[in-house]
Amino acid sequence: TQHAERQRVLDSLRLSREQLLEVKSRMMKEMCRGLSKETHSSATVRMLPTYVRATPDGTERGEYLTLDLGGTNFRVLLVRIRNGKRRSVEMHNKIYAIPQDIMQGTGEELFDHIVHCISDFLEYMGMKGATLPLGFTFSFPCKQNQLDQGILLKWTKGFKASGCEGEDVATLLKDAIHRREEFDLDVIAVVNDTVGTMMTCGYEDPRCEVGLIVGTGTNACYMEEMRNVELVEGDDGLMCVNMEWGAFGDSGELDDFLTDFDRAVDERSTNPGKQMYEKMISGMYLGEIVRNVLLDFTAKGLLFRGKLSERLKTRGIFETKFLSQIESDRLALRQVRAILQHLGLTTSTCDDSILVKEVCSVVSRRAAQLCGAGLAAVVDKIRLNRNLPHLKITVGVDGTLYKLHPHFSTIMRETLRELAPECDVTLLLSEDGSGKGAALITAVACRMKDAQK
Ligand code: BG6
Ligand code: GLC
Repeated sequence: TQHAERQRVLDSLRLSREQLLEVKSRMMKEMCRGLSKETHSSATVRMLPTYVRATPDGTERGEYLTLDLGGTNFRVLLVRIRNGKRRSVEMHNKIYAIPQDIMQGTGEELFDHIVHCISDFLEYMGMKGATLPLGFTFSFPCKQNQLDQGILLKWTKGFKASGCEGEDVATLLKDAIHRREEFDLDVIAVVNDTVGTMMTCGYEDPRCEVGLIVGTGTNACYMEEMRNVELVEGDDGLMCVNMEWGAFGDSGELDDFLTDFDRAVDERSTNPGKQMYEKMISGMYLGEIVRNVLLDFTAKGLLFRGKLSERLKTRGIFETKFLSQIESDRLALRQVRAILQHLGLTTSTCDDSILVKEVCSVVSRRAAQLCGAGLAAVVDKIRLNRNLPHLKITVGVDGTLYKLHPHFSTIMRETLRELAPECDVTLLLSEDGSGKGAALITAVACRMKDAQK
């Protein structure tokens, strides 16, 4: 029957507790492989050292410029941090567009554009010609040998400006600043958005030792024992590791969970075969998975009266915000239908609305569970590192999917409770993005630089 056929397809997108436990344990294994000197180069989860050795302690101060590139918005920020009794952070920022042709043009064009935006911002703030220390939140996988450097390993999330992979993005930025000959900036830190988010939340909550992003892409970082970070000399204390977990699955670790829909989305992406875990979880891809399921249902005559519209064949129509709206419990079916109509899917009936909502909810539940399974591996690793029977920890979270989706965080919490019962995890939403965290990191680095003088 039609009903059975629909359920058969939807079941392929449902994961059992055993499967999720398997994801957790494979993630844990990849984490260890990424940390170890021998296996690092073949690990999919890169476990990149960040040279950030502590979370904020409230002594940070000063005035900093930060850039925030790689999420939905590109922002330039001015961050003023006061310490002591009047401890506070004051931020001013402006959002700039990065046009598609610049995202996918040459690296020189991209960085010239960024510097143009900084120049506009300084003028807007009435600070033309100022020289400030700069923290660069750059949300892509970078190999770091020191804090103020980041060699781009590969673009992710639809960026593909030429001539950047294998280069130090701090140098690319400095070169562009010199080309403009208008102002000078001291690039102090290159920071992943997960790390910025952990630091932002860590300023309010000292238990925050993990950063999580569920937005355009997905990734996590956490404070690892230096003795386990084999790529960096020294055994004392901690260092934040940027996991780059989005690439989990790139050697087949997720193959037994992939559906034809996942494969279709992957094939038509800018980076086929790469970022497989990210493609099952993050905002840039969930809507596409949903669209592919709907295409399949329609082709089989189970939806939209079997009529394949041009709209439905168009990539990218299901943005995160629509998924989140469709799944909202406050929405009557009539409104779901209105959204579908707005998307140009005009032939829908009431039954169609019910089915579309079910598809959305199955796809986003799987995403939240997969993400929760990865996070369970992270918090359990921290617990085991410290030999604790029980761990209380805070995770700083950011990203549009996590923020807008009505059920994502609830499902992720449930999954965490199931898969990491010995950990008591608080998920703390970052209110200020990662620019604030980048400024805090820059502040500490500046203080250490001054102390060395
Ligand atoms: C914020 C950052 O922390 O979250 C962004 O300031 C970051 O730079 C973002 O990439 C992730 O969210 P999204 O949904 O914009 O990709
Ligand atoms: C992608 C990037 C990663 C970033 C994440 C979230 O996975 O490779 O660096 O943290 O997206 O923005």
